[in-house]
Amino acid sequence: MTPAPATHILGIETSCDETAAAVVADGRQVLSNVVASQHELHAPYRGVVPEIASRAHVERIEPVVRQALADAGLAAADLDAVAVGNRPGLIGSLLVGVSAAQALAWALGRPLIGVDHVHAHLHAANLTAPPTSAVAAPADAGPERVPPTTSTTSPALGLVVSGGHTSLYLIHSPTNLQPLGRTIDDAVGEAYDKAAVILDAGYPGGPRLDALAQRGDPGAHKLPRSMLEPDSLDFSFSGLKTALLYAVRGHPVGRGRDARFPRAAADLTDPQRADFAAAFQLAVVDVLIAKIERALDLLAQQATPVQHLVAGGGVTANSLLRHRLHQLGDARSLRVDIPHLAYCLDNAAMIAGLAHARFAAGEADTLDLPALPTTTT
Ligand code: KG4
Ligand code: ZN
Repeated sequence: MTPAPATHILGIETSCDETAAAVVADGRQVLSNVVASQHELHAPYRGVVPEIASRAHVERIEPVVRQALADAGLAAADLDAVAVGNRPGLIGSLLVGVSAAQALAWALGRPLIGVDHVHAHLHAANLTAPPTSAVAAPADAGPERVPPTTSTTSPALGLVVSGGHTSLYLIHSPTNLQPLGRTIDDAVGEAYDKAAVILDAGYPGGPRLDALAQRGDPGAHKLPRSMLEPDSLDFSFSGLKTALLYAVRGHPVGRGRDARFPRAAADLTDPQRADFAAAFQLAVVDVLIAKIERALDLLAQQATPVQHLVAGGGVTANSLLRHRLHQLGDARSLRVDIPHLAYCLDNAAMIAGLAHARFAAGEADTLDLPALPTTTT
């Protein structure tokens, strides 16, 4: 019997500040993965400016999609479906990707499949290494494991750590995620970005702070770890961020707009900056690991033992987090799937990959698929 021909899905992702398109075969094999980053446009503002982001998406979406098809060696007519991350995100940015996907699906007469961007981050670990391995793993990023040959065994515990989200899920299937906990204030990536501003570490904050932390002494400062109620699987990072601010600049004198800090970040030497970054990074990762362990213990008590952890989102690029997740896996005999570094940050391969699960189940959306700024779970 001849094997069934591969299913080729084009994914489009424009939820924040990356314009991305990718072609993925059978939900796992990445044939192309194009990401046009807007970092240089937002760097002067030290954060994403929504209006600038949506304008840049409009300019870049068409060449990015063309490039993804060319890199995959396919014509648009070879596609079996068009997928798009239609939620959650910046509404003006999402609309660009959704409109492009609607137009392509209509013109080609192919199904349109919308997926949740946050859920797609949990599919990233299933993707094969990028076609051109442009992203080299740093020496201490932990072993780059080959993506599993079988897809996620269920149930698995899912951790999403990104700039907009920090959540734990019980993964029953790629499209059936049960929320267990989420941040009640800042997302981890957001806390990293704000900590980088406090330390004047540059933009984008997460990777800058990660690099700085590797030169510092995490024991030089004691920063708080917020664990919330003993059985809570929610997260809180705003107290840690404020503790860092006061440790760096001293306690403010005065209130509100009149508040004045005794010191400035510019007063720090590079080694001092690195020590603060290392202490911050250790506090963040300690909390993430402790919450995962808490979730595993609670699930075991509830007769839902989990032997598989899937992580995703921009912060899974973090060197210490990758290392500690693998350590945890070894200590608790837990299978740990972390995305290749090429798929931690926002990308369209994860969108096309997750869409394949819906496509295989015969699901599709109508051409009036909406862009939704908030997630449903
Ligand atoms: O998943 P992502 O690309 O976008 C969202 O869906 O939000 O995540 C971006 C976030 C940013 O906050 C960025 O600072 C953070 O991921 N990030 C990192 C690292 N690389 C990116 N945070 C810590 N360490 C890193 N190496
Ligand atoms: Zn994301």
